[in-house]
Amino acid sequence: MTSPSNGNGFDAAGIDEQTWTELEKQLEATIPVYDRVNRLMTLGTDRGMRRHVAKLIEPGMNVLEVGCGPGSFAETLRGTELSCLDPSAEMLKVCKKRVDAAREIHSESQVKYIEAIAENIPIEDNTFDRVVCLFSFRDFKDKKKGLQEIYRVLKPGGMLVICDAGKANWLHGIFGRLWMATYVQIVARIVTRDPKHPWKWLAKTYTHYGTHKFYKQIMKEVGYNPAKVRLLLPLGMASRFIAVKPE
Ligand SMILES: C[S@@+](CC[C@H](N)C(=O)[O-])C[C@H]1O[C@@H](n2cnc3c(N)ncnc32)[C@H](O)[C@@H]1O
Repeated sequence: MTSPSNGNGFDAAGIDEQTWTELEKQLEATIPVYDRVNRLMTLGTDRGMRRHVAKLIEPGMNVLEVGCGPGSFAETLRGTELSCLDPSAEMLKVCKKRVDAAREIHSESQVKYIEAIAENIPIEDNTFDRVVCLFSFRDFKDKKKGLQEIYRVLKPGGMLVICDAGKANWLHGIFGRLWMATYVQIVARIVTRDPKHPWKWLAKTYTHYGTHKFYKQIMKEVGYNPAKVRLLLPLGMASRFIAVKPE
């Protein structure tokens, strides 16, 4: 595995502390227009991706969303016990407002909000039926440590679902980088009216993100079995990993 210092603070396995702190600042700056830019840059397919993840969750399950951000996925999830984890107090504040409002309408149980990183989850072993990461895995400081912690808090037979920008292989990654460097940047610039908008950092994390094979291998080393991945749409820019903690 390469060292995080090989790519200006980023590499496929992780992000160094200083770079990650700056990345968090940039992610927080996206909050006011997060959903709008996401929708435009995925050509409206983000909703379908969220629905796809939600279909893998059954009613009554105990679910943890890691990297919940402003609550874009969590507010849509019905019929589950839910915990939302994010290292950013700012993100959690917005998430709580949105998710509590949605759950109140549906008379659903209260959500647990946890300010923490994936690499150190303050929850006891074998707690969750599902752990989901939507567009957050790419931002983990230490991907293997995060996968180990998620494995620890999953119940035996529990499943991790990751949905993120996809890199099926290096060739596909070149198309992804072109997409991030052109269309995404234009959209973000138009919406934010800021030439230094925070989506420049999305392009950086994608550039250093690993391939499907790379993360599948780490998942297997951690103990997940099976660990499967596929692009969500043919030639699409998003992928979905499913990794199960054996019984
Ligand atoms: C792009 S947002 C994703 C928001 C949301 N999950 C969604 O469905 O759109 C990425 C989130 O990951 C969080 N994050 C960054 N590093 C993390 C880490 N090491 N552990 C957990 N979450 C992290 C960020 O604070 C941010 O809120």
